[in-house]
Amino acid sequence: MTKYVIHGGSPLYGEITISGAKNAAVAILPAALLVDGVCRIENIPQISDVTLILEILEELGAGIRVINRHTIDIDCSHVRNTRASYEIMRKIRASYYVIGSLLGRFGSAEVAMPGGCDFGVRPIDQHIKGFVAMGAQVNVEGGFIHAQAESGRLVGTQVYLDVVSVGATINIMLGACRAKGLTVIENAAKEPHVVDLANFLNSMGADIMGAGTDVIKIRGVDRMQGGFYSIIPDQIEAGTYMTAVAAAGGEVVIQNVIPKHLECITAKLLEMGVEVEELDDAVVVRREHPLRKANIKTMPYPGFPTDMQPQIVACLCLAQGTSIITEGVWDNRYRYVDEFKRLGANIRVDGKIAVVEGVDRLMGAPIRACDLRAGAAMVVASLAAEGTTEIDSVYHIERGYENLIEKLKGVGADIEVVSVPDGLEKQQVG
Ligand code: EPU
Repeated sequence: MTKYVIHGGSPLYGEITISGAKNAAVAILPAALLVDGVCRIENIPQISDVTLILEILEELGAGIRVINRHTIDIDCSHVRNTRASYEIMRKIRASYYVIGSLLGRFGSAEVAMPGGCDFGVRPIDQHIKGFVAMGAQVNVEGGFIHAQAESGRLVGTQVYLDVVSVGATINIMLGACRAKGLTVIENAAKEPHVVDLANFLNSMGADIMGAGTDVIKIRGVDRMQGGFYSIIPDQIEAGTYMTAVAAAGGEVVIQNVIPKHLECITAKLLEMGVEVEELDDAVVVRREHPLRKANIKTMPYPGFPTDMQPQIVACLCLAQGTSIITEGVWDNRYRYVDEFKRLGANIRVDGKIAVVEGVDRLMGAPIRACDLRAGAAMVVASLAAEGTTEIDSVYHIERGYENLIEKLKGVGADIEVVSVPDGLEKQQVG
C-alpha cells in the first residue's frame, strides 16, 4: 500500500495534459461486448478502474490486445459466457454496464451486484425498470442480478426515467442497440460521457440519435461491426487540476480538454476570482488574488458536477466569506468533511447542505482518502495547506486519476508516494 506525502503552500506553474475520460472508458469498454469484430479504442486512461473492467471482459471471454499505453484492441466475437463473477464485480460500480451489453447481445446476463464509492444508497431500480420495459425478466437473488429477455431478444419501447441517471441512461442505451425496434429514453442524462458512448456505438454500427439531449432514440440493429474510436478527455480530471491551481495559486495550462465540458466549473471559478482563459483544446487557469465565496448546487450536466463537489469545497475552505453547498445528486457525499477539519477547515454539514466558513490558512495533517473524488479533493487541499499532509488509502484516487503524482510534480508540486508496510492500511472496496 502507498500514501501521498505533500508539502503544500507553493503555487503551481506549467502545463498538465488531461487523460481520457474514466466514466466514458468504463462504459465504452463493456460496450465492445455488443460488437462482432475488433474495436480499436484509443485514449484509454491508465487507471485501476479500467484494469478491473478489462479483467471482467477477459473473464467473459473477450480477446484483448494491448497496442500501446492508451490503445487496445478488443474482440468480443467469441464471447459466449454471460456470467460475471462476484469477485471482480463488487470492486467497481461501472461493472453493471456488462448487464446492458450482455442482455443486448445475448438476451441474457447473470451479473453480481456492483460495488463503487459509498455515497449512501445507490439504487439501480431505473436500470431494471428499463430492462423490464424492454421485455426482460429481472431477479435479484443471492447477490446476483439475473436478467433474461423473454423472447430471447430485448424489444424496443419508451422508457421514462424517474430520476436523471447516468448509469440507467447508459445501460438502457446498451441494451437497446441490438434490440428489436425503437427504444426512446426520456429524461435521459446528458453528460459528456453519455454522448461519447453514443458516438462510439454509432461508429460501430448502432443507430442512436439525440444523445446530449434529454430524449435519446435508439433503433436496434442486427449486427455491429468493429472500428476505431478515441475517448474524450476527462472533464472531472481537468476540473480537479483547475481547482488545484485555484487552491494553491499560480498559472497552469491544462491541455487536451474540451472547454465546453468545463463551462460549469469555469463559471464558478470565475465567480470565485480565478482567471480562466479558454483556448481551442486547453484552458489557462491563473489565481493571483484571494478566493471569494460562492454558493454551489450540484446537478446533472450541464449543472455543476457532483464529482467536482469535494474539490471545489477544498478551494472554498480558503475563500473569503461563507459559502453554501447543496448536494443535489447523492444523499451522503460529505463523508470527507471530518478529514478537511483535521486540516483546519471550518465546515458544518446538515443533510445535503454544507456551510463553509473560509479560513485564512489550512495546516498539513495526516488524513485518509475516503473515496475517489474526496481523495482528489484532499490532494487539492493539501497543495494549499502549509506544512506536510500525509494522505492514506490513496488506492481510491488511483481508480480515476492517471499519473497524478507525475502530473502535479510537473507543475512544481512537492508530492511523493511513500510505501506503507502491508497490514498498516486496511483496504476498502472502491
Ligand atoms: N438513482 C436512482 N435509481 C437508479 C439510478 C440512480 O435513484 O436506478 C439515483 C442515485 O441514487 C443518484 C442519482 O440517481 O441520486 C444519480 O445517479 P446516477 O445513476 O447518475 O449515478 P451513477 O451512474 O451510479 C455516475 C458516475 C458517478 C457520478 C454520477 C452522477 C460513472 C461510472 N459514475 O454514477 O461518478 O457521481 O454518475 O454524475 O459514470 C466518480 O466518477 O467519482 C463517480 C462516482
